[in-house]
Amino acid sequence: MDKIIFATGNEDKMKEIRMILSDLEVEVISMKEAGIQIDIAEDGKTFEENAQIKASAISKITDNCIVLADDSGLEIDYLDKAPGVYSSRFMGEDTSYDIKNNAILDKLKDVPKSQRTARFVCAICAVFPDGTSVSTRATIEGIIGYEISGENGFGYDPIFYVPEFSCYSAELTPEQKNEVSHRGKALKEMKKHLKKWL
Ligand code: IMP
Repeated sequence: MDKIIFATGNEDKMKEIRMILSDLEVEVISMKEAGIQIDIAEDGKTFEENAQIKASAISKITDNCIVLADDSGLEIDYLDKAPGVYSSRFMGEDTSYDIKNNAILDKLKDVPKSQRTARFVCAICAVFPDGTSVSTRATIEGIIGYEISGENGFGYDPIFYVPEFSCYSAELTPEQKNEVSHRGKALKEMKKHLKKWL
């Protein structure tokens, strides 16, 4: 096995994924690098379903590689776990995160800290060359802050406060984020399954 294709078009995610999987002796390439250009309808109701849909769709059109896909998002308890699986589509796919993040802060304007609990969720699915698949899932708990802060990371990181580090997720170094993030933990668990094939 010389290649893992990661089924995402999100370059920010891809950067984190490459770093987390850098100790594996295998090349991890994006869909774009594999020359794959297809639109996959993410119509699952859960993160797990969407990850499985993406990984299976790509696996069907590739030969002899492991295909990985992740589906992730932000669950805000006060908003009944929205935006959840709609995190990237919240307020429109092309709307800037500055606008999305400000809209969330506005919705939670008068909400006390105790009710601002939230989490990032990540489900990863791997489809192997023999057609079998395996999934992992992890979360990071935090709270929605009162301001936008930090330049690192992407998406909702600037409004997600991580109590463990007493700072916003966008203020963590990439190494710190990967150590504790939903994606970092789900991928670490996935590595145990990948190693059986490498
Ligand atoms: P997906 O590509 O459908 O999995 O969408 C994931 C979306 O969830 C991203 O586009 C972000 O809006 C949000 N998200 C997931 N993980 C993170 C993260 O680590 N930081 C900030 N936002 C995230």
